[in-house]
Amino acid sequence: MQKVLSILVTVLLVISFSSTVMAAGNWRKGKKVFKAECMNCHKRGGEAKRIKLNKKTKAGWTKFFSSGYEADHAALWSDLSDEQREHLIKYFHKYAKDDKATHLGCG
Ligand code: HEC
Repeated sequence: MQKVLSILVTVLLVISFSSTVMAAGNWRKGKKVFKAECMNCHKRGGEAKRIKLNKKTKAGWTKFFSSGYEADHAALWSDLSDEQREHLIKYFHKYAKDDKATHLGCG
């Protein structure tokens, strides 16, 4: 009985932990951050090209945000809060090349 109980507790802990991790970023909030902080340059006719989110895989975006992005937009990146960054990455991941939603073509 005790063994069953400890397995149950472990399972519950794992579930609550992974849902905390998954809740770390919210793509809808990320989209707002993107509109507010990025689209003044990244738009048609703007200073920078429009960004194609399906240009990279999730891993590609994670890498970009941890190195490439910081190099190109260091000042801007450090102005964002950790939370805003999490949201932004979630948004980029949602439409990444290897995301299921993109594969099925139904957003
Ligand atoms: C002050 C203008 C400016 C702002 C604001 C800005 N960027 Fe950029 N970004 C650039 C420029 C310039 C480049 C390099 C040239 C290009 O891609 O047009 C670039 C390049 C990029 C690229 C690479 C594009 C590619 O196709 O390889 C990504 C991704 C990117 N920015 C993301 C962001 C994100 C995310 C934000 C908001 C948090 C942001 N940028 C805000 C100017 C800006």
